[in-house]
Amino acid sequence: MKDAAPRTIHLKDYAAPVWRVSAVALDFHLDPAQTRVRSRLSLERAGGSAGQPLMLNGQDVKLLSLAVDGRPLDARAWRIEGEQLWIQGLPDRCELEIQTLIHPDQNTALEGLYVSGGNFCTQCEAEGFRRITWFPDRPDVMAEYTVRLEADRAAFPVLLSNGNLIDSGDLSDGLHYAVWHDPYPKPSYLFALVAGDLACQEDRFTTASGREVDLRIYVQRHNLDKCDHAMGSLIKSMRWDEQVFGREYDLDVYMIVAVDDFNMGAMENKGLNVFNSKYVLARQDTATDEDFVAIESVIAHEYFHNWSGNRITCRDWFQLSLKEGLTVFRDQEFTADQSLRAVKRIDDVQRLRSLQFPEDASPMAHPVRPQSYMEINNFYTMTVYEKGAEVVRMIQTLLGREGFRRGMDLYFERHDGQAVTTDDFVRAMEDATARDLSQFRRWYDQAGTPVIEAAGDYDAANHRYRLTLRQSTPATPGQPDKLPLHIPLAMAVLDSQGREIPLRLEGEAKTAGGQSGERVLELTAPDHVFVFENVPEAPVPSLLRNFSAPVKLRFAYTDEQLAFLMAHDGDDFNRWEAGQQYAVRILLGLVREIQAGRALEADERFVASAARVLRDPDLDPALVAEALSLPGESYLAEQMDAVDVDAIHEARNFLRRSLGEQLADGWRAIYDRYRDTDPADLGAGAMGRRRLAGLALGYLVAAGRSEGRALAYARFREARNMTESMAALRALMDCPCEEREAALGAFETRWKEEPLVLDKWFSLQAASSLPGALDRVKRLMDHPGFNLRNPNRVRALIGAFASANPVHFHALDGSGYDYLAEQVLALDSLNPQVAARLVKALSRFKRYDNARQKRMKQALKRIVETHGLSRDVYEIASRSLE
Ligand code: TRP
Ligand code: ZN
Repeated sequence: MKDAAPRTIHLKDYAAPVWRVSAVALDFHLDPAQTRVRSRLSLERAGGSAGQPLMLNGQDVKLLSLAVDGRPLDARAWRIEGEQLWIQGLPDRCELEIQTLIHPDQNTALEGLYVSGGNFCTQCEAEGFRRITWFPDRPDVMAEYTVRLEADRAAFPVLLSNGNLIDSGDLSDGLHYAVWHDPYPKPSYLFALVAGDLACQEDRFTTASGREVDLRIYVQRHNLDKCDHAMGSLIKSMRWDEQVFGREYDLDVYMIVAVDDFNMGAMENKGLNVFNSKYVLARQDTATDEDFVAIESVIAHEYFHNWSGNRITCRDWFQLSLKEGLTVFRDQEFTADQSLRAVKRIDDVQRLRSLQFPEDASPMAHPVRPQSYMEINNFYTMTVYEKGAEVVRMIQTLLGREGFRRGMDLYFERHDGQAVTTDDFVRAMEDATARDLSQFRRWYDQAGTPVIEAAGDYDAANHRYRLTLRQSTPATPGQPDKLPLHIPLAMAVLDSQGREIPLRLEGEAKTAGGQSGERVLELTAPDHVFVFENVPEAPVPSLLRNFSAPVKLRFAYTDEQLAFLMAHDGDDFNRWEAGQQYAVRILLGLVREIQAGRALEADERFVASAARVLRDPDLDPALVAEALSLPGESYLAEQMDAVDVDAIHEARNFLRRSLGEQLADGWRAIYDRYRDTDPADLGAGAMGRRRLAGLALGYLVAAGRSEGRALAYARFREARNMTESMAALRALMDCPCEEREAALGAFETRWKEEPLVLDKWFSLQAASSLPGALDRVKRLMDHPGFNLRNPNRVRALIGAFASANPVHFHALDGSGYDYLAEQVLALDSLNPQVAARLVKALSRFKRYDNARQKRMKQALKRIVETHGLSRDVYEIASRSLE
């Protein structure tokens, strides 16, 4: 809690720790109301720091005692200043013993040690360990942990911590204990403990070198029938990291615990991952295909952290993308290997463009490696994670897969056991391949999404094609002037048959690059001109293939050229992208018609090109589904100078309805072809067919005929798994009909005891664009299942309303903004991390008309001016108003 503005931490102020902690022994006497923690730190003074005091961090912990080498510490040797404990006059090597008292059952922030569903669990990243005991809570202090847990045996039969179990047994008074030892030195943010009444699913894994590993997933007993998929995903991830990166697991046991109350997705604590139950629990009837895929990728993500994050960790929190960008890149590649690579790439790019690009254009814009922060929890962002992954991907594109692998090998070998920087990572890539990435490093320091303006010019007389490329990056807060970046641009040019024309640059030897039709151009200057020779006819360029850099590419294609690329581009990503660009153009045209008060008409050529995709027998169903999904409202908003939420919504609905009506027979044929896909088949092929069947159903309902509604309602009642059920329910959600209400009611009755399924029910209603949305959201807050202390529920209702219901959230009277401000303030005193994420929905008020701007600013001011606001919420709200 703060009264004055909290202080800002700067990367440039980094100083190595004065004291090292070689070992920690922690004893917990677990009691939900009063937990006693005894900590013994083996301290060593770093060279050249004689006389400097020891500083320990602590937050909401009561200090009971302090002793050095067995003797109570003299009161004059220490003092507490706010959240810092300073100790002077310590010998260069000593053991410091600290006893503290904490109150886990009052911890609603879900950081440190807390209680969820009656069980103890911890969340220490980024700075939660200081809520457990006084400690140098920074990632460059790595220590070997031994942890003793003591608790009531009946209430807490399972006692877990990091590493290997070395002792356990019963005590008097119904107590029992367990002792865990983690041989790998780790930063405090990777510490974890879990205690409770949990059931466990077990399996085994034999590593490539023959080490036997016990795999255990702990859940509440009634969820034991929802763990198979998570276990299968874990085993796949372990094998994949061996095969693709040569990384083996290093302890005797790997544990995952699912908890219902969790601020984020999951946490990679060494040997003891704690997961939001959303990313563990799945059964065919409770989880959709998307849920199954998300679980597999989050399990993989946390597993991959064992090397990219735990064995090699971050020197300080400015380096967060060192572990997160790299690990997202690794989990993206893993998922791509389990499914259709292009589909995975399309999904990732959509996510980046609809969530990270807006962040990069907002008052909260920051580089992949930020220079400063008030609250580090606010920097677990799309930029650090997703743009960070794109930066790693570009390195792979520049070095080639093989060079990149050599760089990774060197990185793991050179820095194992260390806390390092993103610069160390790039240096390993350079040293392994003898490439110079000095200009490339700017990607880590420069915020904002670069724009590349491209133009082509064909010289028929000399058979030359000139490609002109100009890059620029818009100003962002604190960074008015940008330098040119090193950008890999994958490209090809196509002849009129859609074949790739071999590319040879002017002056290049006949062999160099002349064979292949695709090449990677490297942009380093603000302007480049590439002249290709022996180009027999005026070509159509296919640029930024596979989205080879996180930029906005502008090229003035004609509608015909876009339709041509949609049909012929050999790069599946760009084939999809051409369709998206075409749809954006059509939709923005409709927005202008709406604004001018003119009647709307669907573009015939666009509808015809969609029809061709629908009937293309060679396209994978998942790719057809991607191609025929219209760009989302937030992505469309990004393409406008001043966002017109209502016109965007109307234009998109109009085009959806037109495609539904005009291609009705095609949709019906597709639906009938794929509706019977084996509901138990979780392979990528079956998922793709279900996705397309669901899309078809949505278009049939959007067409507005009763036939579509009847079909969707029948599908809902006969659904054989959650994917079918949700596709039907979603199709009905924006349709004011009896079927909708009947289906929602039946869904609630059936699933009211399954929190993860009930979240879906809350979200669907919160995002529905039917009139009266805000009233419905407010009524749902009185639903017995609603609980402001549960982050999943908050995100499902309040989060979905603010981020997935633009028309109602941005209601002209400001009611959506006022509602959000109220909820942010109510939540801030319970859980600042979750509250801060909600505030971001108000950040970009400058993009809206004056009336909305004014009301959004009012809501932000109301938040900032509240007394006793958390650092988390203060930072976002105040930066937004700057
Ligand atoms: N390191 C986690 C991940 O990305 C992120 C995380 C989990 C987290 N819980 C958190 C970050 C709480 C901040 C606060 O895998
Ligand atoms: Zn992560």
